[in-house]
Order: sequence, then structure tokens, then C-alpha cells
Amino acid sequence: MKTLKAALVGAGKRGKIYCNYALYTEGKELEIVAVVDPLKFTLDEAAEKYGVKEENRFSSIEEFVAKKIECDFVVNATMDEIHYETAMKLINAGYNLILEKPLTAKKAELLEIERAAKEKGVKILVCHVLRYTPFYRAIKKVINEGKIGKVMSMEMHEHVGKYHFLNSFVRGKWHSEQECGSGLLLAKCCHDTDLMCWLNGETVPEKVSSFGSRSHFIKENAPADATEYCYNCPHVKTCIYSSQKTNLECDWMSYQTWQRIGKPLDSITYEEKVEFLKHDTYGKCAYNSGGDIVDRQNVSVEFANGSIASLTMIGGCSKEDRFIHIVGTEGEIKGFWGENKFEVLRFQWSEGLYEPTKEIIDVSQNIVNKGGHGGGDYALMQDAVRFFAGEGESVSVTKIEDSINGHLIVYAAEESRKTGKIVKIEK
Ligand SMILES: NC(=O)c1ccc[n+]([C@@H]2O[C@H](COP(=O)([O-])OP(=O)(O)OC[C@H]3O[C@@H](n4cnc5c(N)ncnc54)[C@H](O)[C@@H]3O)[C@@H](O)[C@H]2O)c1
Repeated sequence: MKTLKAALVGAGKRGKIYCNYALYTEGKELEIVAVVDPLKFTLDEAAEKYGVKEENRFSSIEEFVAKKIECDFVVNATMDEIHYETAMKLINAGYNLILEKPLTAKKAELLEIERAAKEKGVKILVCHVLRYTPFYRAIKKVINEGKIGKVMSMEMHEHVGKYHFLNSFVRGKWHSEQECGSGLLLAKCCHDTDLMCWLNGETVPEKVSSFGSRSHFIKENAPADATEYCYNCPHVKTCIYSSQKTNLECDWMSYQTWQRIGKPLDSITYEEKVEFLKHDTYGKCAYNSGGDIVDRQNVSVEFANGSIASLTMIGGCSKEDRFIHIVGTEGEIKGFWGENKFEVLRFQWSEGLYEPTKEIIDVSQNIVNKGGHGGGDYALMQDAVRFFAGEGESVSVTKIEDSINGHLIVYAAEESRKTGKIVKIEK
């Protein structure tokens, strides 16, 4: 395979995770030839890492596009609220894209991205990393082989760990739908709604209902004398959500927490962190963080072929994991993603017994521990370079048209949650 050339737009956490593939493959499969980021230190840090020439470092997409740099694809890993605007500029300039999820919170924009890509003949691969994980890929294979017959129902649970929920959705970058454009379902579970559609084969989602709200991290639940910021709160030593505990003592998700200080992580001192928490949302009382994101939500979906699916997402659990139970006409699949194995039960009773056969499929040996998401980040890039090189598509490759239905489920679920109605999906 020829070595592909890529540009990175948005050189933050996710962008670097994908582009590190160039380093893992020692430049044999991928070379990063340009970087775009308005933050000078982020731009230079990434450019140095990937050996990008000075003249190919840009602070805006406009400058990058004007230079007409040749590359096989662009990784767009900007934040949720600017995916549409940035993707459209790159599509109009004729670049193929790896585009981070969620694509956008607006249906009209979603369909516009799909339309524009088609018109320009641009390939878009959406970062639904879970499709690439050995766990879900093996489940898809079992379904495709017909081992459980026709899918009749899917139960899915996503448990968002306490540290992740607090740091991303209570205090962090996704704490407010109004500010970042994504609610919790869109930001966290468009992967799960995507899996629902992918695993269920050719059928499409038709009707959706959903319930959920923010019940725990609200100001009414704060102790009466709690202060706005944790550092001077009388409960700082006893509150399990104190940012002094979570961010100074435990230093959860450090890259994300200290990102707004605007310096390379290893150069930030403890004193700077202490000062930062006195005025940033990361230092605020969890009950009074100003966020508007739900803390649990469920979604029920009916598909055109009559099969059904449900997803329950709970923010702030002791252990982060996903569970799936699929029942088909001839068998079942059941397992926790975090365990990297699942059961396949088949309804073939042996004589005199009423027991299904049970096979355990263990995928733990297939995980490449580079990047995260149970091996999904690395496997996505492995498949992406082959996809953009024109060397075929794996079963996991999620083109823009494949990602539409998962997003439409989220939009319908949010409408249902807010109006109390069952919402019919219409593209
Ligand atoms: N696929 C997944 O499983 C997964 C997991 C986590 C996050 N995400 C998504 O990945 C995206 C990036 O998240 P992140 O944590 O890396 O964010 P980040 O804040 O670390 O990175 C975003 C970068 O974009 C830069 N930027 C801002 N405006 C820009 C512009 N106009 N042009 C170019 N660059 C610009 C910022 O300076 C920043 O460096 C988000 O949409 C997030 O929801 C996806």
C-alpha cells in the first residue's frame, strides 16, 4: 500500500490519537503533512510531533485551503459545535474527511453534509470507534453469519463512570448543551444509537420515545452553605464530588482538565492548577456548575421490520461499561464490552434437555492497546487508510450515509424527551 498523506484540523486530544497512527506505523502507511489549530502551542506541539514543516502549520482552515496542499484525507477533530462549519469548508475544497462524531445537533446540517459530500465526490468516514472494536466487530460477525437468526430485540446500557461524568459532563467541555451544541445523548451515545442501526442490518429506525432529566447535579441538592467554587467550601474535605479531590488529588482526565490553562501539560505546575480551579468550571461545585445536561436517559426504538431496541444511559456510575443483550429468532448474544467477551446462546436443545448451546467468544487477544476505546481508535485508523487508499471497506467502515440513522434516533429521542411524545423519524 502506498503511504497516504493526511492533514490534521483540530490538534487536540482526539486528533492526536488518530494521527499517532503515522508514528505507530513509522510513516510507512501514513504521513501527517499539515496541521491546523488556532492555539499556537497546540499547533506547534502537534506539528513537532509529526514532523510537519513550518510552512504547513496553519491557524485557520481558510489559510490551509488557500495553500491547496495535496493530501488523501483530512482528520477533522474539532469540537462538536464547529463540526458542521469546518466540515463544509473542507468538503467544498474537495478534501476527503475523517470526521469526529457527533456530526452536528441539527438535522438540516446533517443532511447538508451528506448532500455536499455526494455532490463534491468526497468520502467521509465518521469516527464511530465502537464499530471497530474487536468486541462489537465480533458481535456483528455472529449476526451476519446468521447464528442468532433474525434480530428481534436489543437491550443496551451505557454506564458513564463517575470520573468521566463529572469531568466531561458536569464541569467539562460538554457540560452545557447550549454552549457546546450537544446534549449527553448526542455527545456520549450517538455511538450506541449507531450500533443499534449497524447491528440490526438493513432495517431502519421508525419510531422513538425517550425519558430523562437532570436530577442529581442541581443546585437544590447542594448543602445549604456550599460555595460556588470548591476551594473555599466548608465541605471540601467531605464532599465526594469536590474538585479539590477529583482534579488536584486524583487528577482525573488531566489533559482535558488543564487544557484551558493553555500550556503543555508537563509544564503546568501544581500552583497553576490550584489557581485555575479558583475561577474555571472545573473548580465549581458539582451541584452548581451551571450545566444543563441530563444525568440519565432512556431511549426506545421501533424499526421498520418490527424489531425493537432500548438504550439506558446513566451518568455517574461506579464502573464505566456498556452492556448488550440481543435476542434473535434462533439465539442470543449477551455481554459486557469491558470484559471483552460475550456469550452466544443458540436454541438447539439436545435430546432430553432444554438447554441452549453456549459459546463464549473472547476477543481480548485481538485488542491493540494503542489509543483507547477497547482497541477501536487504532483499528479505525487501520481501516481508514485502506478505505482512503481504495483498498476496500471493512464491515466497520462508517461512511456519512451510514451515520445518518444513528443521529436521527438521537434527534428524535431528544424531541420525545422534551415533548413527551412518540416521535416518528422522517429523513
Ligand atoms: N469518537 C469518539 O469516541 C470520541 C471521544 C471523545 C471525543 N470525541 C469528539 O472529538 C472531538 C474533539 O474532542 P477533543 O477532546 O479532542 O477536543 P479538543 O478540545 O482537545 O480539541 C479540539 C481542537 O480543535 C481546535 N480548534 C478550535 N477551533 C478550530 C478551528 N476553527 N479550526 C481548527 N481547529 C480548531 C482547538 O484549539 C483544539 O485544539 C469532539 O467533537 C468530541 O466530541 C469523540
